[in-house]
Amino acid sequence: MSTHKQLTIGLFGFGVVGEGLYKILKQTPSLNATIKRIVIKHPDKKRNAPAEYFTQLADEILNDESINVVVELIDDAEAAHYIVTTALKKGKAVVSANKKLIAEHLEELLALQEQYNVPFLYEASVAGSIPILRNLEEYYDNDLLQSVSGIVNGSTNFILTKIFQEKVEFVEALLQAQQLGFAESNPSLDVLGIDAVNKLTILLVHAYGIISNPKKLLYSGIQNIQLTDAKVAAEKDYQIKLIAKASKLKNGKIAAYVLPQFVTADTQLYNVANEYNGIVIESGFSDKQFFYGKGAGSFPTASAVLSDISALRYEYRYEYKKKNHHQVTEISNDYYLKVYVSFDNIKNVRKDAFEWIEEYHGGQQRSYLVGVIHAEKLLNSDWWKQHGISLILTPEPIIENIEYRDVQKRSLELAGVV
Ligand code: HSE
Repeated sequence: MSTHKQLTIGLFGFGVVGEGLYKILKQTPSLNATIKRIVIKHPDKKRNAPAEYFTQLADEILNDESINVVVELIDDAEAAHYIVTTALKKGKAVVSANKKLIAEHLEELLALQEQYNVPFLYEASVAGSIPILRNLEEYYDNDLLQSVSGIVNGSTNFILTKIFQEKVEFVEALLQAQQLGFAESNPSLDVLGIDAVNKLTILLVHAYGIISNPKKLLYSGIQNIQLTDAKVAAEKDYQIKLIAKASKLKNGKIAAYVLPQFVTADTQLYNVANEYNGIVIESGFSDKQFFYGKGAGSFPTASAVLSDISALRYEYRYEYKKKNHHQVTEISNDYYLKVYVSFDNIKNVRKDAFEWIEEYHGGQQRSYLVGVIHAEKLLNSDWWKQHGISLILTPEPIIENIEYRDVQKRSLELAGVV
């Protein structure tokens, strides 16, 4: 094994993470990795690195045969697609943090790695500094993984912490998340849950070997969460968190979603605040394990990129073990979710979509109900994402099977309430 392989890096992007990586690499000379060239989009911006590194021409990296590692840290997923696919086709190892690119083009990117026999590593694309992908790939290389769930978007967790614990306004909290370099350039990707569902798509490959697409998965963000929801949460000593979850159902298929959820004080995720991320893994015999770390920001994200670069020295690559060596399972939306829905006008709530409604609380400005709804009905409708409606999962939301007599009984009990 060539443990001292010289790595000559072509870096795309010198933003929050790119500059972080540049600084970190300067502090780790033992790595035997040097940046040769940095491609940037805006040449007029002041950069904290010598001018001779920079160019606007992608080909100065892609056509340079002495560069054997391309590190792609730009936020334009389309430009990133060209860079990453071209680099792989030229036989260069690629490290990327671009979750949008990876989630949307998984199949193609997997095929290219195989065809050109080059490593493509992207630990930094999911949960920032937490080494979750390599762990899922190497350590949880078996069929016993019951679920992977947690907080995988730092910006929304930061915003929720600021608005509910520190009483900062949403707009101000978002601005802070942007200034600290946590948010995407288009922060609606964070707020609407798109960044989190991109990350869930990547987790699904390494946890279960499932190649999905973010567009096919059930998701929402924190856009509709209200102060009144936080008050309900506080009364019950819950926190509201944006949770990404992949969980094995009794039939072996996988439930997968990103939705806001009430979490109870006796769970690890309850205490994950600000830009921190947390992931709970449940597996057959080890029960629960918890990964915790910074999920966004310059150095934490760059540290995961650094770890990938370091892994290239010994020619590490993902083997996609679950996909290639196990019986691959599939996503199922055939399960129920127990949800809390708050609203300003009951007319906008599709009551008939629920199997049953078991609580109703009328308020002066907003009211809420708690009910059970089939996941497919959420996936195939968007009334619950409309302005004025806030849907939050209850602490143990997944119900696999319901008995018809439950529905009848509960409906009778509640007849006339709503
Ligand atoms: N915008 C992302 C987040 C950056 O807030 O989690 C890290 O992927």
